[in-house]
Amino acid sequence: MGRKRLPPTPLLFPTPVVLVTSVDEKGKANIITLAWTGVVNSDPPMVGISIRPERYSHGNIQRIKEFVVNIPSQSLLRKVDACGVLSGREVDKFSLMGLTAVPSEKVRPPLIDECPVQMECEVKQMISLGSHDLFLGQIVALHVREEVQKEKGRIDILKALPIVYCPGAHEYWSLGRYLGHYGFTKGKP
Ligand SMILES: Cc1cc2nc3c(=O)[nH]c(=O)nc-3n(C[C@H](O)[C@H](O)[C@H](O)COP(=O)(O)O)c2cc1C
Repeated sequence: MGRKRLPPTPLLFPTPVVLVTSVDEKGKANIITLAWTGVVNSDPPMVGISIRPERYSHGNIQRIKEFVVNIPSQSLLRKVDACGVLSGREVDKFSLMGLTAVPSEKVRPPLIDECPVQMECEVKQMISLGSHDLFLGQIVALHVREEVQKEKGRIDILKALPIVYCPGAHEYWSLGRYLGHYGFTKGKP
């Protein structure tokens, strides 16, 4: 079978699926579903989120310069999808979805209590890339529910059950099975 050349698109798969919380000037919280997100630095710990300027959340994050990255489990899939098709301009997603806003420690946007992991972030930079603006956020507080931790506070994927996304196919998937540990080939040619 040959190879088929396709138009260039960001076909990096899978990507994480996260719920990002933000607030407006009055402190009203909103939730946006994002798949264009990833780790961008280890020290200081930083993540990047790319948001189209027309999203309601974009204005919140640009003005307040803070956001929280909440990692949902698969049990929240319907709410995750709904937060990605409804806008905070028209609806209050926290009350509509029945999600619980818990005050953050260091930033104004709240944590989503139902998510097992939350990263409180301060915006360090915004870079306009074209369709999306990339917000680079420094993680100033990290929360992980004990139920999804194994030894030494490491995440137990089988308990956290993250959702992953396949760009292009527009599909949500779950992760499969454990394949090995980072560096397991070291000293074993
Ligand atoms: C799975 C999924 C991933 C999405 N990823 C992004 C993204 O990375 N960037 C973005 O700007 N919009 C993304 N969206 C679209 C927004 O979530 C959607 O437009 C949302 O309604 C915006 O909410 P807001 O207007 O309340 O901010 C995604 C939607 C879904 C369902």
